[in-house]
This record gives sequence, C-alpha cells and structure tokens, in this order.
Amino acid sequence: MNTQELIATAKALVAGDKGLLALDESNPTCDERFAKLGIPQTQEMRRAYRELIVTTPSLGEAISGAILYDETIRQRKLDGMPLVKVILNAGIIPGIKVDLGEEDLAAHPGEKITEGLDGLRGRLGEYAHLGARFAKWRATIIVGSGRPSRACIEANAHALARYAAECQEAGLVPVVEPEVLMDGEHTLERCGAVTQEVLETLFSQLFTQGVLLEGMILKPNMVLPGLLCPSQEPVDVVADATVNCLLRSVPAAVPGIAFLSGGQSGELASARLNAMNTRFKSRMPWALAFSFGRAIQEPALTIWRGEQANVPAAQRALHHRATCNQAARRGDYHAAMERI
Ligand code: G3H
Repeated sequence: MNTQELIATAKALVAGDKGLLALDESNPTCDERFAKLGIPQTQEMRRAYRELIVTTPSLGEAISGAILYDETIRQRKLDGMPLVKVILNAGIIPGIKVDLGEEDLAAHPGEKITEGLDGLRGRLGEYAHLGARFAKWRATIIVGSGRPSRACIEANAHALARYAAECQEAGLVPVVEPEVLMDGEHTLERCGAVTQEVLETLFSQLFTQGVLLEGMILKPNMVLPGLLCPSQEPVDVVADATVNCLLRSVPAAVPGIAFLSGGQSGELASARLNAMNTRFKSRMPWALAFSFGRAIQEPALTIWRGEQANVPAAQRALHHRATCNQAARRGDYHAAMERI
C-alpha cells in the first residue's frame, strides 16, 4: 500500500469545491431508468449515454471523480477513445463500483447484505490496471418496524470494512457507502438514530480491519425523514440533524464526506448540502462534498431520451446540476440559480 498516494487521491477527490459524479448504475438499474423514458435498453444505448456524460464540456471544473460500472470502465467513445481516457483528459479521477449488489440477509426477512468480497482482490487488480484510482461499495439499511437489526448493521459494516482494507492494499481509495434508505414512513429523528448507530458500528469495523482513515472517503445518506413521513422538515433542520450526527460519529482523520442523493430531487440535494456548508462552515473537521448520481443526472437523462439531437441540451443540464452542487460546497447556492 502506498500510503502517501492513497492520502493524496482521497484529498484530491474532495479538494476545493468539487465533488463526485456517480454513473455506476448497474445494467438492470440503468435499463430500468431507460425503460421509464422509452429509451431502448441496449449495451449501445448505455454506452452512448455514458459518452454523453463524460464528454460534457467543462465537467472537470465541478467534478473531481467519476464512479463507473464494470461495463462502462471497458467502453469507448464512438471514435474509439476509452472512456477512462476521456475522463482523465477532463481532469477527473476515474473510480469504479466494486460490490456485486445485494442479497437477502439470511434469517432477517426484509433486510439486505451486499455481496462481492469473493474474488475482490483479483477484480481490484484488474480495475487498477484499467485506470481506476478509487472504488465504491454500497450497503443498504432499510428502516421499518424492527428494522434495521443489529445483524444487518454488523454484517454490512464488516463487509464494508473488509472491502475498504482490500482497496487500500490494491492502492485504491475506498469510497465507503452505508446508505440508510429514504423509503418508508420513519421520522427524521429515527433516520438520525439509525444513521448514527450505523456509522459508529462502521468506524469500529474500519478500525478493527486496519483501514487507514486518512485514505478513504465516507459516502453516507443525509439525515432525512422517510419519503412517506407526514412531517417533512425544512432544509436547515435537515442540515443540523445531518452534520450533528456526523460530528458525533465520523473521526476527524477522514478527509472528506461525500453524500449520496438517494432519490432526493436535484434542487433539494443542492439546497441541503448548501445549508450544511453555510451553517457549519468552520466547525467541520472534514470536507463536506457530494457524490450524487440521480441528483446530477436526472434532468440530463430526461432531456436526452436516447436522441443524438438532444445531447447538447442534456449536457447543459448535467453541467448546470454539477455547478449548483459546486456552489453548495462553498455555501453559495441559491434557488435563483435554478431559473436558467
Ligand atoms: O450508490 C449509489 C450511487 O453511487 C449514488 O446514487 O445519488 O442516485 O443515490 P444516488
């Protein structure tokens, strides 16, 4: 493990006012989103869509790292240039999703465990060879009656820590993603309590497995009420609940926290990140950034609809969302930015 290189990459991912762009949807997830818009669900359409994203003009001014999927990291632009090279030329660090998705957790109905540790060392070596400098693993925690169980929290935290240690061994920065899902009727307080328990368990496991905290990025959920909760708190309340939870549970040695968006609208995700960076400016030991998928991509995908003629407008929409989140990192985002 080259410690200095890991630390330098982790710092670069959250440097200045940039953040990460997640384009690591698995083929079934990508196809599902295409299907809703009537876009053909083929390998060529997925390739064309990812080409649209990574060739967006000036993307590297707002985006530090791009998370790819196994199919995407091997793909090329129509003119033959590997997408990884396009990303590097834009000044963006390529990364890769390395978990293999989730399975039912035995003996715990309704709960999930993320799989992918078998053969991981070999896959990491191949991805590093293909140009990846960081790797992501997502664990999902479902909130509901009697959920999450300790078994679910501990099993997923253990897997996240084992993956993170293997990443660092391979010279890749782990982007560690424990996601408390927004689905359900739970309150913001309940999300906060679950998120805190998950993060405390996770950092205990990361410590046990010997993960270098300075060479990783945490990718958590914001502390939010469930989508079906009748009480939807304002932006400032969400910001305070989220940062206070993180201050209690994330060691200062971690260089950066980059949120997932988890199904929030692009505007809300930007407004909430902005409120956190405004209200806690000088009180946070880590950079507070973004690693959004849907909250950056959604408008672009909707505009594109699989039509080549729509590419420039889709790229403008993608760039706009990236820029809004860049402003949110500085605490400079405001709703008027959406009137374009
Ligand atoms: O694992 C999830 C992605 O990396 C982030 O996607 O921002 O749409 O939740 P999201």
